[in-house]
Amino acid sequence: MTPTRLEITRPDDWHLHLRDGDALASVIGHTARRFARAIVMPNLKPPVTTVAQAEDYRRRIVACLPAGSRFQPLMTLYLTEDTPADEIARAKNSDSVFAVKYYPAGATTNSQSGVRELARVYRVLEAMERHELPLLLHGEVTDPDIDIFDRERVFIERCLMPLRERFPALRMVLEHITTRDAVDFVSAAPANVAATITAHHLLLNRNALFEGGIRPHNFCAPILKRETHRAALLQAATSADPHFFLGTDSAPHPREAKEAACGCAGLYTAHAALEFYAEAFEQTGRLDRLEAFASFHGPDFYRLPRNEGRIVLERTPWAVPDEYPLAGSACKPMRAGEPVAWSIVEAAAS
Ligand code: NCD
Ligand code: ZN
Repeated sequence: MTPTRLEITRPDDWHLHLRDGDALASVIGHTARRFARAIVMPNLKPPVTTVAQAEDYRRRIVACLPAGSRFQPLMTLYLTEDTPADEIARAKNSDSVFAVKYYPAGATTNSQSGVRELARVYRVLEAMERHELPLLLHGEVTDPDIDIFDRERVFIERCLMPLRERFPALRMVLEHITTRDAVDFVSAAPANVAATITAHHLLLNRNALFEGGIRPHNFCAPILKRETHRAALLQAATSADPHFFLGTDSAPHPREAKEAACGCAGLYTAHAALEFYAEAFEQTGRLDRLEAFASFHGPDFYRLPRNEGRIVLERTPWAVPDEYPLAGSACKPMRAGEPVAWSIVEAAAS
């Protein structure tokens, strides 16, 4: 029988887009209510490429937090072909930067400053390997001749396998994995390789893109895949394998930017993130493993202490609003206007 109450160690979100300015102020409360910490993506305009910029961004996030919140943003640097190798030592010595993000140029939102040629960042990767600073990979090739549904698998073959050979000690997280191929690669890798899995890739397959018509709010990068891949992700997330941990990739965009002839990629899930994961784990009857995935494997990989606070979920359905405010506009959240099975019972502000 499904339990109706679940108490776990307070979780962290190991992949999150908080944006900046008014949009940041609109969304931060949803994450801070559920998670103690989050790895904050650096794909702002312009991107966060230096420790000094990351520290400024961190201060802007903290200034927006709801009163009493002790949420901790863990900052990342955006890797470019111009990143100097000594920025890595600065990052390692800072107490605010925890990883460096690799975007293949053109792969996703604000990735134009990303990497075109891997060899041009080898010196930076050597420094990261030496300083044990994790590299977070958006794992998709961008070649126009590769089918969009194959971009992750081809990235593993063409980029990730050679990277592993060249930098065997480099700590890497393959972000927001979407395929059985990624599950197989990561589960067979040693402990310095890990992966995050989003709630939307656990709950939706690619049919959700075309339910009765085109569904721009289900469009994200990497794109949703077929059911066999979703099943492989669900199996990995609920397997108790420490290679896999929670990263929502919650990525708010104003409604009009998604409901467009060329709509932006990204699902907004922060408003019900932990609740969505609980639904996914419940599908496999493995709610007992949610805590390890959401609260233990991430800090263990990042060599940070596990949280001490707790959070309580109850199996009480609630209806997601049709939209949330986002700066001067609105954002259509995942499951807009429909019920979510689990609720957060108010958690301590720790
Ligand atoms: C992200 C965004 O909007 O910043 N979009 C997405 O579809 N996931 C970027 C990213 O992580 O790819
Ligand atoms: Zn992302």
